[in-house]
Amino acid sequence: MLKTVLCDSLGIKYPLIQGAMAPYTTVKLATAVSNAGGLGTLTTAGFTFQKMGLLKEKIDHKEGLRAIIREITDSTISGAAFAVNIPTLKHAIPLARDYLDVVKEELESNPKTRRKLKAIVTSAGDPAVLIKSIKDVGLLCMHIVPTIQHAKTAQRAGVDFIIASGTEGGGVVSYEYPITTLVLVRGVVKAVKTPVIAAGGFCDGAGLVAALALGAVGIQMGTRFIATEECEFHRDYKERILKASEKDTLITIMPYGPCRQLKTEFSLKLQELMSKGVDASNYAWEGVRNTIEGNMENGFVAAGQVAGLIDEILPVKVLVERIVQEAEEIIKNLNSKL
Ligand SMILES: Cc1cc2nc3c(=O)[nH]c(=O)nc-3n(C[C@H](O)[C@H](O)[C@H](O)COP(=O)(O)O)c2cc1C
Repeated sequence: MLKTVLCDSLGIKYPLIQGAMAPYTTVKLATAVSNAGGLGTLTTAGFTFQKMGLLKEKIDHKEGLRAIIREITDSTISGAAFAVNIPTLKHAIPLARDYLDVVKEELESNPKTRRKLKAIVTSAGDPAVLIKSIKDVGLLCMHIVPTIQHAKTAQRAGVDFIIASGTEGGGVVSYEYPITTLVLVRGVVKAVKTPVIAAGGFCDGAGLVAALALGAVGIQMGTRFIATEECEFHRDYKERILKASEKDTLITIMPYGPCRQLKTEFSLKLQELMSKGVDASNYAWEGVRNTIEGNMENGFVAAGQVAGLIDEILPVKVLVERIVQEAEEIIKNLNSKL
């Protein structure tokens, strides 16, 4: 049985995390991943975008988070575990505090939530601003980093797990320091004592074994989980991932940071506007709105290079069990190759 310290700390069966994926709440996907024995993660960034008036929907950000915490609490089996992602970008700190207030209220009012909600995943900023409040409510803090230097800072802040996320991953990546997962994970494992989770480019059992060999205690996946039956993303979004090759992504600046996404008419034009030094924030938000409405060609279709390795939409449980079985098989057969 493939068990690591990640499983013990979170009470999960498999060392697999579903990464948060804005602008969707990912509540359906997170529920399926948690029920399958991994850690599902709820995404708050979409509520933040709404609060900023950037999307058409106008759900109050606190009530939005409260509703999805209640939904996943009620729709997961006993023993399931989930996390909430809270971005800690400087300008979003007041909202991050609001989200944590909601988490605290829900933990205090519902014993089932107290048993299932295990961690806050902080990203895109400094975890130090939230760490004390996270510990005060009795949760673990997992922080996402793009470089070894950021990992050292996160360790100093006292986070419980570091998610080392390489440049090949989907969504927000570092533009300045595009470090590959292979180099980043190994470097972070050597540089810190905090347990490390590998992210960026994973989709199968071979990837999981590779991450464990590098010294990580588990993997986080985003793009692979989009191509599942339960994921709430638009059908055309999933189809584009199936059709993409490893060469079909690019990085552009989005208003909330540089993002890896699929090549579409939208992303190619955004890249062109960027190269001309034009402020394209409004155009970028239009791309996010188009995606939500199902217009992928003119939309922001965040995905990682691993899209090139994904060729089928699977139920989450089948995917999770396949990854674990494949990893166990590879480990068992490794000696015969030497
Ligand atoms: C569509 C999409 C949206 C994302 N949004 C977020 C987010 O809101 N917060 C976050 O911490 N990471 C976000 N990420 C990063 C993922 O959580 C995960 O770390 C990343 O996808 C891992 O790389 P992979 O796509 O190669 O598996 C996003 C990724 C994708 C593909």
